[in-house]
Parts: sequence; structure tokens; C-alpha cells
Amino acid sequence: MMRLDRMLAECGFGTRNEVKKLIRSGSVSVSGDIVRNPAAKVDEEHDSVAVDGEEIVYRRFAWYMLNKPKGYVSSTEGADSVLNLIAEYDRNLFPCGRLDKDTEGLLLITNDGELAHELLSPKHHVEKEYLVTVKNPLKEEDLEVFRKGIVIDGEEACQPADYRITDIYECHLIIREGKYHQIKRMFAAIGNEVTGLKRLRMKNLVLDESLESGDYRPLKEEELEDLRRRVPEDPEA
Ligand code: URA
Repeated sequence: MMRLDRMLAECGFGTRNEVKKLIRSGSVSVSGDIVRNPAAKVDEEHDSVAVDGEEIVYRRFAWYMLNKPKGYVSSTEGADSVLNLIAEYDRNLFPCGRLDKDTEGLLLITNDGELAHELLSPKHHVEKEYLVTVKNPLKEEDLEVFRKGIVIDGEEACQPADYRITDIYECHLIIREGKYHQIKRMFAAIGNEVTGLKRLRMKNLVLDESLESGDYRPLKEEELEDLRRRVPEDPEA
């Protein structure tokens, strides 16, 4: 059981004060009856709660897909934190993984620590696909070493990565881990330089083309189910 105002705030209907007003205005019903008391207790899993006649589905955990713009950091605090882009900021949200300040694209925002940990664990080899733009022309023979597993900075061995060259200065790269500045360091190791980086996919979840830079949306039920589907662990990782 939880308070009605909290449930609506967690479902993205505004701040606690905004949803209180909404409830008092008579827009909210619980099992068919209008409820005007923000402190009313509801069974979030079983009661049918509706706003202006439309039933809402409560999710214990929030999951958002953000099209991260450049200039924001993957932290939970500070003026340049990606969380400043999310209106539902009061739910213990955090970014699931890290993109560099100058990297754009798909970043998941959640308050679900357990699933986030699983998706980020190197054991699970979750695929991350990036669009990479580089300074010097790309050659197949320079990139082949990525498929075998390149050693960066003379000591750190990367797992094999797949790539597809799509233009002279552009390729798609798929990695299954997330070392610090990994892609920039991989290209530096073959004498090139990353000039643009955008994450397009994580596991089967593709960045929604309709999201403008800086926009976000909740994950759909089927997208979340797919993220939850276990990736077998690799005992050697
Ligand atoms: N690799 C990088 O170098 N930076 C990112 O933001 C992500 C992967």
C-alpha cells in the first residue's frame, strides 16, 4: 500500500505538490470512485487508479531512455548531471552506465539497482553499439585487431569487438564491456582519434529516433521485459 499522491508522482504526473492539486481537483479515481484526499492509501499493484478516466499502470521501478546530449555528465549530482534533464527527479534515479561528457545517445536512467548492476556487469556481455566518427580515414586492416581483442595503453586487454565501416570517417562499433574511455582509447591505439561518439543500442534496445537530443521517454513494457531477460554469464569473464 502507498499514498495516492506518491504513486502519481512516481508515475510522472508531476511533483508531489502538483499531484496533490490534481487529486483535489477531482481528476483521480480509485476503483471507479473519485478520491480527493492525496493521503489516501492505495494498493499500487491491484487497485485501478485512473487520471481523467485513463487507467495508469504503476511500476515499482522507473526506467527511462534518454537521448543524452553532449555537455552532460553521467552522474547523479551537479549542474551538468544528466538527471537535470529528467523531470521525475525525486525517485532516487541514476544513470545506468556512463557516457563521457562529449558522448551522445542512448543512456538509461533508472532507480532499479539490481537490474542496472546486471546489465553493466562485464560477466553478462551486454552489447553496446556506437556510431563512431574519427579524424583519419578508416581502413579495414587497421580495425581488424578490434575483432581479436586489442590491448590498450600497453596493458589493458579488450574483449573482441565487432565493427562495420559505414563511411570513410565513420563506423559502427559493438563492445560488450565498458572500460574507462574505452572506444577513444581503442582508436588511439590504432593511431586514430575519435571526433564524435553516439550510443545507438544497448542489448536489443535501440535509441528511439523520435527522441530529440535531451528528450527521454519511459521504456515500454516489452522493452523492459527484454532487458530483464537474462544474458548467460560467461564463467571466464
Ligand atoms: N567509450 C568512450 O570512449 N566513451 C564513451 O562515452 C563510451 C565508450
